[in-house]
Amino acid sequence: MSNEKKSFVLKGAVCYNKSLKEFDARKDAYVVCVDGVSKGVFDELPEEYKGLPLIDCSGKLIVPGLNDIHVHAPQYAFRGIAMDLELLDWLNTYTFPEESKYAGLDYAGEAYDYFTDDLKKSATTRAVVFGTLHVPATKLLMDKLEATGLKTYVGKVNMDRNNPDYLTDGDCEKSLAATREWLDLVEGNYENTLPIITPRFTPSCTDELMEGLGKIAAEHHLNVQSHLSENLSEIDWVKGLCPWSSCYGQTYERFGLLGGDTKTIMAHCNYSTDEEVELMRKHGTYIAHCPQSNAYLSSGIAPIRHYLDLDMNVGLATDVAGGANLSMFRAVSDAVAVSKLRWRCVDQELAPLTIQEAFYLATLGGGSFFGKVGSLAEGYDFDALVLDDSGIRSPRELTVEQRLERFCYMQAEGGKIAHKFVAGSQLF
Ligand code: GUN
Ligand code: FE
Repeated sequence: MSNEKKSFVLKGAVCYNKSLKEFDARKDAYVVCVDGVSKGVFDELPEEYKGLPLIDCSGKLIVPGLNDIHVHAPQYAFRGIAMDLELLDWLNTYTFPEESKYAGLDYAGEAYDYFTDDLKKSATTRAVVFGTLHVPATKLLMDKLEATGLKTYVGKVNMDRNNPDYLTDGDCEKSLAATREWLDLVEGNYENTLPIITPRFTPSCTDELMEGLGKIAAEHHLNVQSHLSENLSEIDWVKGLCPWSSCYGQTYERFGLLGGDTKTIMAHCNYSTDEEVELMRKHGTYIAHCPQSNAYLSSGIAPIRHYLDLDMNVGLATDVAGGANLSMFRAVSDAVAVSKLRWRCVDQELAPLTIQEAFYLATLGGGSFFGKVGSLAEGYDFDALVLDDSGIRSPRELTVEQRLERFCYMQAEGGKIAHKFVAGSQLF
């Protein structure tokens, strides 16, 4: 099949969320893609689509593509090691030294080849990505991501305080100038790869820099990503750095960086106060839930049920290398697991997430950041995975829902991604 073929029909077992609470699962159905957009799921193929090419995936599962809305590309190089420290020591001891290597394009080229190759093969169809503060390496990352066919946002990271001298933008003026230089290089350059404004987090960015980035985001109409209320020591530090603020979220909101005309993703929100939650609701801020990272860095457990009850925008993410791997199926099962621990150990008022709610976070929840994305229902961009679960053997007759649940828990034990489509283009 060629990459250009954007109108076709898939046949197989189908499951997807129509909303947080509505899940559609069919044993034998057709999903129709016309010009890269879904025409919906049908038990019988309507007459008008019978002329389209049919890709027979009988015996396999067809699901929406998964959206990883917070991942650090340069940290992929040290995934799965250095998991013994909490956030601030982890950044200083392992992360900043690793990110400094991206000053060199040879190292960056090799590392970003591995990252982009593996992301292409993964369950992720769309991602929101941190680069490093280096302009040439971030442009190189964008070139490589564009070539994969995945749809992504990528950020040149900004850092102008509390940095080691081997990893810094210098002062505020230099950081803003580097951001403008980067935007000149990349804006309008790509079909699938868009820039996103990326203050690392408040401890790394002066108020002046935040103000300048807010202005650039408004002038260029760009989305924003950062970190919020991930770790208790981080939150204390922000109180000291911004004594004028009454919550961490204000240190972004004051400068127009929490969302509004454009969208903002804040990773974590493990300890957001009622005031911070209200600010995020007011601005429609997206929360990137990163369950594996929150466990491995001992950061905490976000109250995702609470955020969903409040109708907030919540998506799911790997936060590599706080999380060790790129698997969004793993992120789905981890979201269920940490919600159960939170329910057991922290707050029995908040019921654990079901697998279908966690699947919603990975599909529709984060998908709306990109537009009409995250479902196979009519009108959504045709992002889809065809899953071969025949290697996860069982003598039992399983329902379609059970097959998807098993895939989320056990992809590594024999589940394969047979095909992947992004906006109707077939990546493999
Ligand atoms: N806060 C600031 N930078 C980082 C980072 O690289 N990873 C995580 N998990 N949190 C951060
Ligand atoms: Fe992160």
